[in-house]
Amino acid sequence: MDNLLEIKGLRVSYHTYQGEVQSVRGVDLEIGQEESVALVGESGCGKSVTGKSILRLIQAPGEILPGSQITFDGRDVLSLSKKELRAYRGGQASIIFQDALAALNPTMTVGRQIMENLLYHRKIGKREARAEAIRLLGEVGIPNPEKRVDQYPHEFSGGMRQRVMIAIAFACQPQLLIADEPTTALDVTIQAQIIKLLKQLQRENHTSILMITHDLGVVASIAQRIFVMYSGVIVERGSSDDIFYRPRHPYTRALLQAVPRMDQEGKQELNSIEGTPPDLIAPPEGCPFASRCKYAMPVCARLAPEVTDFGGGHRCACWLYHEMAPRVAELNDPDAAPAGEEVGQ
Ligand SMILES: Nc1ncnc2c1ncn2[C@@H]1O[C@H](COP(=O)(O)OP(=O)(O)OP(=O)(O)O)[C@@H](O)[C@H]1O
Ligand SMILES: [Mg+2]
Repeated sequence: MDNLLEIKGLRVSYHTYQGEVQSVRGVDLEIGQEESVALVGESGCGKSVTGKSILRLIQAPGEILPGSQITFDGRDVLSLSKKELRAYRGGQASIIFQDALAALNPTMTVGRQIMENLLYHRKIGKREARAEAIRLLGEVGIPNPEKRVDQYPHEFSGGMRQRVMIAIAFACQPQLLIADEPTTALDVTIQAQIIKLLKQLQRENHTSILMITHDLGVVASIAQRIFVMYSGVIVERGSSDDIFYRPRHPYTRALLQAVPRMDQEGKQELNSIEGTPPDLIAPPEGCPFASRCKYAMPVCARLAPEVTDFGGGHRCACWLYHEMAPRVAELNDPDAAPAGEEVGQ
């Protein structure tokens, strides 16, 4: 079956006074029909910019650069007319964000907000739309939907607000849902409930999901395939099992080793990896991870790594898998005991 979404060579830049911020620097990504794909990586690596590009939500000073390709259900997203774009957004593809309070309109009842989407995209009357809004609120697990439909966003808890966002996103049974850190602001129990809800709605609506997160833990139960992003590029991609049990890129391994901890506000965060990602105004010529990589070789700083294909869609952009590179036992055979000897430094 054809992929629902295909992104090829996506490049997005922000033209700022400091210079051109090259947020996304050549990303390829596909999502199959009814597939769940995760895009993971540290803050600032370009996940949200990639997600927004799919819905053409990049605004000035940002620009999707010429040569980028986004195909949705066989159609060229980057050349959709304004009218087609309106039908596409919220109709065929929806997005939900971390901050549901900011995304919702504070002056409008949640019912009206769901109805707006329904009235816009579906040929139904007001009365029917209201009944459908109530049904949707019930469907996403909001108790007393007949009463809640007339309440405002501030009358809902964080978890319930995210459920409202999900109800709006699923109102028109989109083929694709982009979920950008949908559970990051929520506590762990609520996180799990929201993931469960997304999985249930995905099954019922035959939706594909792109789950964007910095937290690999969130992804484990939902993603069939994982794309690991670093500094505007995909450094590794593979099935969930490939990424969790056979990670190849030193960055993926570092992400996996970063242990979840609780921050002051009781939110779960990953321990950060030592060092900082490169400046996207002047990204390095070689591998962007080289300066933080404990296995880095001289070539890594000079040349962008070639992609090695491990089969079954598992690919990694790292010089360590080049035939001329020294073999690092712990990377080449992930089941092997940690190597006593490391290349580089
Ligand atoms: N409006 C903007 N103006 C200038 N630069 C921007 C703008 N939006 C994003 N960027 C830059 O693009 C890069 C990628 O941003 P993006 O929001 O995609 O990161 P992210 O991976 O989603 O991070 P996070 O996990 O923090 O959400 C960042 O370096 C950011 O500074
Ligand atoms: Mg983001």
